[in-house]
Amino acid sequence: MLDAKLEELRRATLAGFASAVSLEQLEESRVAALGRKGTLAQISKEFGKLRPEERAQLGKLLNSVKQDLESDYGDKKRGFEQAELAHRLANEWIDVTLPARGVRVGSLHPITQLQSEIEDLFTSLGFAILYGPEVETEEHNFDALNIPATHPARDMQDTFWLSDGNLLRTHTSPVQVRGMRELKPPLRMIAPGRVFRNEEVDASHEHTFYQLEGMMVDREVSIANLIYFMKILLSSIFKRDAIVRLRPGYFPFVEPGFELDIHCLICDGAGCPVCKQSGWVELLPCGLVHPNVLRMSDIDPEEWSGFAFGLGLTRLAMMRYGIDDIRQLQGGDLRFLTQF
Ligand code: PHE
Repeated sequence: MLDAKLEELRRATLAGFASAVSLEQLEESRVAALGRKGTLAQISKEFGKLRPEERAQLGKLLNSVKQDLESDYGDKKRGFEQAELAHRLANEWIDVTLPARGVRVGSLHPITQLQSEIEDLFTSLGFAILYGPEVETEEHNFDALNIPATHPARDMQDTFWLSDGNLLRTHTSPVQVRGMRELKPPLRMIAPGRVFRNEEVDASHEHTFYQLEGMMVDREVSIANLIYFMKILLSSIFKRDAIVRLRPGYFPFVEPGFELDIHCLICDGAGCPVCKQSGWVELLPCGLVHPNVLRMSDIDPEEWSGFAFGLGLTRLAMMRYGIDDIRQLQGGDLRFLTQF
């Protein structure tokens, strides 16, 4: 009886192993036959009822069935594992000879590049580079520049006021004041930096942008000196002759004051959003330092005179690189920035 059961178990289980198409199926057959609650375990429970001779005889058979099944199981299992390994080796390969990805090198922001260039130029011309604070006093930003509280010119620049009465500087001109008081004439200085205006943002306006202030105070400084330095500046930046025009311009801290316009380099004068379709871009307000401004920084206008200019660094970067929307400069988009 039991021997027939054992033989049947051997036959059926070997057949099951043979027909298994996966490791899981193979395992199912093994557990059914050899597991703790499997057929073999059931059969051996019945051994207790047997007589000793029978038990010895059937014991041999049981062991041989068990060994057969275990060894066949082992063969089949190795077969599946080898097939699985071969499959992975064929599919999961890497080419170790591929070149490495390389280090991603950053680049300086176009405005930073331009600023460094202009700093180098002016340093070579004997100008000091000053950096004033971005949070300024009303006195430095307005009063000492001949813009008293009642002056309508304060409305020209929409100011971010702070609750303590200070403000975010609306231009780099307050550094003129700091420079005059610190250095004393004769002096030559530039002051690059970030400025802030409470403005509606569009393709050519940002609330935060960059200027580069310049100032020279010496004996008998004239408009000729101003034009001379501006010509050097523009030809150095654009590496070619820039077409410019001078218009009278009003700023309370210069007299006479000018607007130096540059022929739009983006559209070549045809009209585009940057030049507001006019063909010209306001690039550089400038003029001779107003006597009141000198006086307010303890400089005698009878003895000293000077020129000052306020370069729009942001606008200049746009012109030089042909950027037609100011918002791209502060957008933080690496696809844009890595071009420079
Ligand atoms: N500070 C002025 C502005 O931002 C520009 C300027 C600077 C004009 C120097 C004349 C001289 O509007």
